Amino acid sequence: MSLIHTPSPRFDGQKPGTSGLRKKVSVFQQTGYLEQFVQALFDVLHGPDGSASGQTLVVGGDGRFHNRVAIQSILKMAAARGYARVLVGQGGILSTPAASAVIRTQQASGGIILSASHNPGGPDGDFGIKYNGANGGPAPEKITEAIAARSGQLERITTCDGADIPLDALGTHTLEGCSIEVIDPLRDYIAVMRGLFDFDAIRALFARGFRLRFDAMNAVGGPYAQALIEGELGAPAGTVVNAVPLEDFGGLHPDPNPVNAEDLIAHMMAADAPDMGAASDGDADRNMIVGRGFPVSPSDSLAVMTAHATRLPGYAAGLSGVARSMPTSTASDRVAARLGIPAYETPTGWKFFGNLLDAGRITLCGEESYGTGSSHVREKDGVWAVLFWLNLIAVTGQTVEGLVRGVWAQDGRCFYSRHDYEAIPLEAGNALMASLRGRLPTLAGQTLAGQTIATADDFAYTDPVDGSTSRAQGVRLILQDGSRAVLRLSGTGTEGATLRLYLERHEANPALHDTPVQEALAPLVQLAQAVADIAGHTGMDAPSVMT
Ligand code: G6P
Ligand code: ZN
Repeated sequence: MSLIHTPSPRFDGQKPGTSGLRKKVSVFQQTGYLEQFVQALFDVLHGPDGSASGQTLVVGGDGRFHNRVAIQSILKMAAARGYARVLVGQGGILSTPAASAVIRTQQASGGIILSASHNPGGPDGDFGIKYNGANGGPAPEKITEAIAARSGQLERITTCDGADIPLDALGTHTLEGCSIEVIDPLRDYIAVMRGLFDFDAIRALFARGFRLRFDAMNAVGGPYAQALIEGELGAPAGTVVNAVPLEDFGGLHPDPNPVNAEDLIAHMMAADAPDMGAASDGDADRNMIVGRGFPVSPSDSLAVMTAHATRLPGYAAGLSGVARSMPTSTASDRVAARLGIPAYETPTGWKFFGNLLDAGRITLCGEESYGTGSSHVREKDGVWAVLFWLNLIAVTGQTVEGLVRGVWAQDGRCFYSRHDYEAIPLEAGNALMASLRGRLPTLAGQTLAGQTIATADDFAYTDPVDGSTSRAQGVRLILQDGSRAVLRLSGTGTEGATLRLYLERHEANPALHDTPVQEALAPLVQLAQAVADIAGHTGMDAPSVMT
């Protein structure tokens, strides 16, 4: 045995946020930083210095800067820990949903995913690490909290000696008795997609001249989208743009929303726009759907999917239920009520959907942050969402806009927007939320900007499957007509704090469905700004981003 033990550097603050531990690349480049987290993770999973004997681990990332360095280190630590097999994506690549698919298909005990999702990459950008369990989904809070606690107490870090594993060619290598297999990052994922959708119908759609523009934003979705959409489904070459994953995403901010995917929006607003536009993020779990001249809000996308899912082969047996995160609009709840299926409201963070999916209570789920997914894996899934929409268009013969307007016509339109106040000082963000929370008992009944607050609370969630409770998940100001303003601090940023203000107003009257979104929500914005004194706390009189 050539195990190497070194004293733990004892870095502070290795507490995972909404989705894993995310920090600047320079933080992860400190000697022992990543290793301390991995050691703490393994200690939590296998007991302090216990062995992972007989188990399989999946490892891969979105290809961003530092991915390869981190992977070599993890492979050695996993071998030292006694894992029987480690499956690593070729080139160190695995999109987040593909990692979930590999864990499930290969019956691994879990996986380590290296990504900071939609955060910018490159030497000055962000890096991240998270653990997913045997169900393929993000580790629940009790695990992430245990990792954070263990990380601060470590005595030593254990790894092993050995040459770096060549990641660019498929093949099997042995390290400390552990079989390290460099696998095709696409294979298991593509097999899952084949089982869900009517590929013949989508092929026929493209054969009829349907035009799609898929912007992979120089991130990991590119190879998946190219293999499926241009390869299997016969879309013309060039349908997928920015398809090669780059370490710095070519300088793009790979977050598929109308602000960061502005090039796609420009194409979709042009006179000769394609029939459908789509984008995915750094690790390909997020998606944005755009019709010709018609961006679709993520909340509406989930509602459309819920409304028509049973027309697709993978969902023909029916939906057991649908879930959305609390700040996501209630559009999908309204569809679910019409269909007579249960609707669930969870805190922000994909991990909260895991138990509902595992227990078979829901089939579809989604979030306002450009994420939708289903029971096929335990992550949100960007390329899946695009195939879902393509299949819907193929079988309904409707346009993207037509499908959205169809739902509005039946259930009314949920006007929706998110306003972000980015990179504010941490203390300012915390002070704003503390002050708001302190005043919660006094807010109900108050009238501001001509609107009366009916209820004001801090969202708490009790998981119906395991009974665990998560508190302080966001302040809700709910008006008498059901309109809502929600305020919470982002759990994924790496610079100061980001205040998110989510706004929703339902409009039943079809004659008013074309009101500009910000206009429809303006009174609600005024109310939220006044109640939370956003300008006073942040020094900003307007948000930095509105989506
Ligand atoms: C990640 C998570 C999502 C979450 C989103 C926004 O993408 O996977 O579940 O909705 O971040 O999180 P934040 O805490 O920044 O609002
Ligand atoms: Zn992501």
